[in-house]
Amino acid sequence: MKIRTERLSDYGEVYNLNYLAFGNRNDESRLIERIRLSEGFIPELSLVAVENDQIVGHALFSKAEIVEDDNRNEIIVLAPIPVLPCNQRTGIGGKLIQEGLKRSEALGYDFVFLIGHPTYYPKFGFKPAREHGFNLKQFNVSDNIFMFFELSEGKMKRIKGELRYPNSFFQ
Ligand SMILES: CC(C)(COP(=O)(O)OP(=O)(O)OC[C@H]1O[C@@H](n2cnc3c(N)ncnc32)[C@H](O)[C@@H]1OP(=O)(O)O)[C@@H](O)C(=O)NCCC(=O)NCCS
Repeated sequence: MKIRTERLSDYGEVYNLNYLAFGNRNDESRLIERIRLSEGFIPELSLVAVENDQIVGHALFSKAEIVEDDNRNEIIVLAPIPVLPCNQRTGIGGKLIQEGLKRSEALGYDFVFLIGHPTYYPKFGFKPAREHGFNLKQFNVSDNIFMFFELSEGKMKRIKGELRYPNSFFQ
């Protein structure tokens, strides 16, 4: 299994992968299409996992902001992350997450946020965000599924505020 940057020629396969992984619905596939067309898209943070020439996993890390009064800090959000149902629980999701965190750090970002399974993401170092001074108003979600990963130590003392997903997440 190899992880690489998504290419234009992967778009159709990635659409189908998201459709299957999220229970035969296309909400996530369409979210990806909107993010790709938005300013928040970072091509090298759209990752695919390839096994025997088939795309078996995908992870999209893109830009969002932490806002407090007049201060805005650009951060990364992870959404969505699908693995083909028959390839799940073989470590592919974990490898996509770790590669995305590594690349986000290399690009100079301080944080990656997500809304996700409360028992899955802590395995990779994600922590509940609200108890560390972050807030989320756009989605009404419980505290344990709103999480973040700190890429550069020390920034938490400086950066606090509300996570704002860009418009591409709502159209
Ligand atoms: C969530 C998902 C991306 C994880 O990818 P994966 O490659 O299967 O995960 P890994 O192999 O890295 O890790 C497996 C571990 O993750 C945990 N895990 C996997 N799916 C889980 C789920 N739906 N809920 C909670 N924990 C889960 C389990 O602890 C599992 O370990 P186990 O097999 O020993 O019980 C994948 O299951 C998936 O595509 N699910 C459907 C789409 C989805 O919900 N995506 C996330 C929301 S954006």
